[in-house]
Amino acid sequence: YYDPSFSNAVITWQKQHGRHSLPWQQTNDAYRVWLSEIMLQQTQVTTVIPYYQRFLENFPTVHDLAAAPSEQVMALWAGLGYYTRARNLHQCAKQVVEKYQGHFPDDPALLQELPGIGRSTAAAVAAFSYGTLAAILDGNVKRVFARVFGIEGFPGAKPVEDDLWLRANALLPKQDIQSYTQGLMDLGATLCTRSSPACQRCPLQAVCVAHATHRTAELPVRKPK
Ligand code: ADE
Ligand code: SF4
Repeated sequence: YYDPSFSNAVITWQKQHGRHSLPWQQTNDAYRVWLSEIMLQQTQVTTVIPYYQRFLENFPTVHDLAAAPSEQVMALWAGLGYYTRARNLHQCAKQVVEKYQGHFPDDPALLQELPGIGRSTAAAVAAFSYGTLAAILDGNVKRVFARVFGIEGFPGAKPVEDDLWLRANALLPKQDIQSYTQGLMDLGATLCTRSSPACQRCPLQAVCVAHATHRTAELPVRKPK
């Protein structure tokens, strides 16, 4: 049976307290959503914003990015780090133009076949661009789930990660996937932080195992040595 209380709590909180004015939230354009998600994979929001805007000024569409010389792409990326992301970004744009006539697919399984797009990024792009019901599980969301469900294993270990994906899928709402997905990201980034979670303001406090057992400092479990 399907319990909507978890997703309802996240969605209601996102609408009232989540972030709504980030530049990539002002669009459903899959190209823009994808660009933002790749930049945000390993870089903070405040750092990403000017890069995101400069990229779009230089490459307004995926066709422009695909056709650009790689030197220009790398120069615009300079400072964001993790340069494999920039090379994959450029390759991905070329493949979307060649295979999909410049239209990003709405199926996470197809998105995941493209360079630089993992399972969680595929779900985020599909959900934000097309409203596809798909689960994300990035580092912040793993932390939230590990605490809420009192998961005892290291979230980077394969069996634990498999379990987290099963839970993430089971918790998906049937509607409002954009607010839900953004809400999970916002909860992880702004309330359920690594070192000082704001449990008193958290919409999941009543169901959170880590909060109830005073183990927010112990969960998620650290990487075993
Ligand atoms: N991190 C990853 N995706 C994000 C998004 N859409 N908004 C804010 N932070 C994010
Ligand atoms: Fe995180 Fe605290 Fe909310 Fe639990 S109650 S999800 S530990 S912020």
